[in-house]
Amino acid sequence: MSLISWTKEQFGTSVTIADEQHKVLFGMLNDLHDAVPKGDRAAIGAKLDTLVNYVVEHFAEEERLMTETGYPGYDAHKAEHTKLLETCGGVAAKFHAGELEITQDTTAFVKDWLVGHIPNVDKHYGPHLNSKGIN
Ligand SMILES: [Fe+2]
Ligand SMILES: [Fe+2]
Repeated sequence: MSLISWTKEQFGTSVTIADEQHKVLFGMLNDLHDAVPKGDRAAIGAKLDTLVNYVVEHFAEEERLMTETGYPGYDAHKAEHTKLLETCGGVAAKFHAGELEITQDTTAFVKDWLVGHIPNVDKHYGPHLNSKGIN
């Protein structure tokens, strides 16, 4: 069973590009989660890097949309992104240095972050971006 599934009710932001990127992100997180018990460190590392790189890309896209439209909640939103990237960057660096293993606690942590962030933070930019013609 998948770790996380996208539903419009729980995760829909009313912004198509954000929803599409969230779905891709969920797929990558599920892939990593499924790879963990197989124990192939190279495969886990590749999936981890794919996920972290995509998170960087996704956050940059959201931040671009927010800054280009003068979103008032930008600073607080950006701060949440920065905090997660610092955590993920640290985990990835330690993994590649052989100092830490990725477990399903790691993927559960990312899931919990997304389950908190998308409905409570991302969703708030929906009406603002929609009012600027971004749907
Ligand atoms: Fe997002
Ligand atoms: Fe966000």
